[in-house]
Amino acid sequence: MKFKTVLVPVFLSASLFAADQNATTDKTIKQEGIEYIKMLGGALKSELQTHMKADPSGMSALGFCTAKADEITQNINKKLPKYASVRRTSLKNRNEKNAADAIDTQIMQAYEKEIADKTFIPENDIKIVQDNDTTRIYKPLITETACLKCHGKDLSDEIKKSLAVNYPKDQAVDFTEGSLRGVIVTEIKKH
Ligand code: HEC
Repeated sequence: MKFKTVLVPVFLSASLFAADQNATTDKTIKQEGIEYIKMLGGALKSELQTHMKADPSGMSALGFCTAKADEITQNINKKLPKYASVRRTSLKNRNEKNAADAIDTQIMQAYEKEIADKTFIPENDIKIVQDNDTTRIYKPLITETACLKCHGKDLSDEIKKSLAVNYPKDQAVDFTEGSLRGVIVTEIKKH
């Protein structure tokens, strides 16, 4: 391996150096957060796709989400380092366990505003928030066609029936393609 000679300007001020260090730390935390977000998002999405393919009515996928989404989230959290956690939340929840807190709500409202104002950039969609000793990394979940079977305006009778039984307080319907369905958020404590 070749080593490059890096010329460091001697006039580099202390504050600039500090800013640089922060940038490096932030980047690492961001990457770590995205990794955990992908673990949860990837696991749920691949299962969802498999079930939707096997049964296009959505009933098999619905059974899976109802029975397993929470368990899969817990299992992934068990695999993470003690200082980290990952979860899904939304402004309109299906499962009450996924309720948003004040910071989540603020971030999701910001995403909704960007989408409404057409300033939302999918390639640059991660938001980072510092909350005391915890860094939160947010990834938005935009409603796709595939989500509409269970979160859209026009649900089949069998899906409606199952949702009414399992989620009597369900709010996660009437979404349209391109709208914000929710977020995945990783919380990383100082360690
Ligand atoms: C086959 C039905 C089905 C489909 C398709 C589906 N979901 Fe869901 N979704 C559910 C169920 C059921 C829950 C509640 C799971 C639980 O109990 O934790 C849920 C929960 C969620 C949550 C957690 C917040 C909440 O409301 O409790 C998010 C976020 C979410 N879905 C996003 C999506 C996105 C994005 C898509 C499309 C890529 C999608 N869903 C497709 C059935 C579905």
